[in-house]
Amino acid sequence: MLYIGVDLGTSAVKLLLMDGSGKILHIVSKEYPLYFPNPGWSEQKPEDWYTQVMAGIKELIQDVDKSQVAGISFGGQMHGLVILDENDQVIRPAILWNDGRTTEECDYLNNVIGKEKLSQYTANISFTGFTAPKVLWVKNKEPENFARIKKIMLPKDYIAYKLSGVHCTDVSDASGMLLFDVKNRCWSKEMCEICGITTDQLAKIYESYEAVGTVLPEIAKELGIPESCKVVAGAGDNAAAAVGTGTVGDGNCNISLGTSGTIFISSEKFGVDKFNALHAFAHADGHFHLMGCMLSAASCNKWWMDEIIGTQDYGKEQAAIDKLGENHVYFLPYLMGERSPINDPLARGTFIGLTMDSTRADMTQAVLEGVAFALRDSFEVAKALGIHIERSKICGGGAKSPLWKKMIANILNVKVDVIESEEGPALGGAMLAAVACGEFESVQEAADKIVKIVDTVEPEPELVAKYEARYQQYKEIYPACKELFRKIQ
Ligand code: XUL
Repeated sequence: MLYIGVDLGTSAVKLLLMDGSGKILHIVSKEYPLYFPNPGWSEQKPEDWYTQVMAGIKELIQDVDKSQVAGISFGGQMHGLVILDENDQVIRPAILWNDGRTTEECDYLNNVIGKEKLSQYTANISFTGFTAPKVLWVKNKEPENFARIKKIMLPKDYIAYKLSGVHCTDVSDASGMLLFDVKNRCWSKEMCEICGITTDQLAKIYESYEAVGTVLPEIAKELGIPESCKVVAGAGDNAAAAVGTGTVGDGNCNISLGTSGTIFISSEKFGVDKFNALHAFAHADGHFHLMGCMLSAASCNKWWMDEIIGTQDYGKEQAAIDKLGENHVYFLPYLMGERSPINDPLARGTFIGLTMDSTRADMTQAVLEGVAFALRDSFEVAKALGIHIERSKICGGGAKSPLWKKMIANILNVKVDVIESEEGPALGGAMLAAVACGEFESVQEAADKIVKIVDTVEPEPELVAKYEARYQQYKEIYPACKELFRKIQ
């Protein structure tokens, strides 16, 4: 049988076709626009996602026996607010995970309702990108839209709804809404009350590997696939990426270098970060995870390459970098503010330490290192919680760079396991579909059978020591700039 994994990303949707043995047969990518209507705002049109998903699926399966397509599932950009009216029309563009407009709403939630209560109800506190503060923002700033809300959903769940007609979500993605009681895997009535909504407006909750239904007859006809094809709940992109890299069970780590950058630690037991810097979410394997999320990771490098120095040849720019651990230029990667661990939407990107002899290569290096240093900030929080991480998998667009992997291994002082396919969320989505269709007994079994480590980047003690000294300096830059970021808004 064949399984489709849909990775509904921020810059594009990636679709992957996998057979029952876990072999990847085909991958297709389709882009859609991203809108920044105000500084710090970030929106997309759900209708664009759907158009491109349908076009992508058609292309993906054009050369295979379509009658074999047994399941479709997802890894989706998390936290985005999609609202539909009573006629199932999208009310306004989706407000995305990296949107920073909800500072007032977050202040209200964290300081008036209080972090302790939020943590008690949901296991998390409020961050500007989370869904609940966006619901409050619509309530406060667009009351006419708020009054029309019939259904609230997350990005990938909009696609599942269009394909199956079922208003569904999964536990991992629901965890990022701040409306979900992560420990008990159900909606929090208290949070709904605080946000002025009812659980009727929210989706039915599934485990990530559960089928929510089958494709609607008109969808089956349009795609040429059987009506029995299952639509499977899927997961937030980080949980799906964790499945795709075999980061399941207890105490395993995955680093994702996509538009966002995340450190994901799987756990069999529910646990909350007492500092509230890491998210405590449900995992797609039926358990839990902790996660630190930086808002701009590979996107910093893309911005630097495409927008600033104007090149597509990332490899050539990186080949010019020859003094690892000795760069005097530093870069704060806060181009969209920052989530983990500093939770500061007003933080900004910054180069510091430039001199007349600084080169283009030094600045490119600073960008790559700045992202790795910022990931280390979340890593340090995990360490402070007593979590010991010796090795990590890695995925996402940035993971294609051998240099960046080397920097990460040495800046974090971890072994970085490189897997056969870095397709993360799309592969994880296809694996979840295969589990729901009975191809594997569990997510763990699918991961054990499908994910293969092909190489390991080992930290080098001398370089680790050099980077340790650099990190200690890097760490002082944000606190020194913090107040200035407020002044220069
Ligand atoms: C995770 C997060 C991002 C998005 C990116 O909390 O906000 O990783 O899911 O797609």
